[in-house]
Amino acid sequence: MTSYNQSIFITGGARGLGLELSKKYLGEGFRVFAGIRQSNRVTDQLENLYPKQYIVIQVDVSDDQSVTEATVKIKKHADQLDVVINNAAARFKETLLSLDAIDIDTSLKAFNINTLGPLRVAKNLADLIKKGEMKVWVNISSEAGSIANCQRNSEFDYCMSKAALNMQSALLQNEWKEDQVKVLAIHPGWMKTDMGGERAPLSPRESAQAIYETIKKNKENVDKSTFIDYEGTPYPW
Ligand SMILES: NC(=O)c1ccc[n+]([C@@H]2O[C@H](COP(=O)([O-])OP(=O)(O)OC[C@H]3O[C@@H](n4cnc5c(N)ncnc54)[C@H](OP(=O)(O)O)[C@@H]3O)[C@@H](O)[C@H]2O)c1
Repeated sequence: MTSYNQSIFITGGARGLGLELSKKYLGEGFRVFAGIRQSNRVTDQLENLYPKQYIVIQVDVSDDQSVTEATVKIKKHADQLDVVINNAAARFKETLLSLDAIDIDTSLKAFNINTLGPLRVAKNLADLIKKGEMKVWVNISSEAGSIANCQRNSEFDYCMSKAALNMQSALLQNEWKEDQVKVLAIHPGWMKTDMGGERAPLSPRESAQAIYETIKKNKENVDKSTFIDYEGTPYPW
């Protein structure tokens, strides 16, 4: 096993925020396990640029077996992880349908990816994060998951899946307190990605840079669950 100072696993690493987080952590010298469903030109380039430091782990977080197999692959390379970022998520176009037209099958899919995906990852990688040095577990949440700030009257599945992810973050913080693992639910800002669209004010690169700093500054205080935005400002649950 080659030893790197620090290691991170990031889901949804092929595009958007996940890709920018991967690049940022590579630049900072981390060994990056990039969880992706399918390689593309950019991930191929990263593999060439960072042989050994950038490891592609094929994973579909909505599938139990896929997450179990991904875990086996990660464990071939690393016996601990410093940071895990559950970033993969889906926001289906059906999320915008009115209440009477809501498609329950699509809602189940959104829950399976956005909420149960991170839970599968937690179940499988708990032992590696507990052995890490930094011990930071990040769930990329959203302002859409804030119950206190809720303004919408649609997007039920996406908003509910992120609110439930916030609860998952709080439960995990309680569960891992004794192991000194810090759990962060982070709203990454409204970003120009396939999900956020062209009108968004923030680039995923800017968000990734800020999230990197925010994680460094908020890795203590395991007694309290934390929901913050990409700049570290507390967000109402
Ligand atoms: N964009 C925004 O304005 C915004 C705002 C608030 C919160 N967020 C959150 O920020 C995170 C990143 O969003 P983004 O804007 O970068 O989204 P994006 O551009 O749509 O990228 C989503 C990523 O998730 C992956 N993914 C989707 N389903 C998956 C599955 N079943 N298994 C594994 N990977 C899967 C996609 O992989 P493929 O390439 O294989 O499809 C892709 O890499 C998400 O958690 C999102 O909810 C985004």
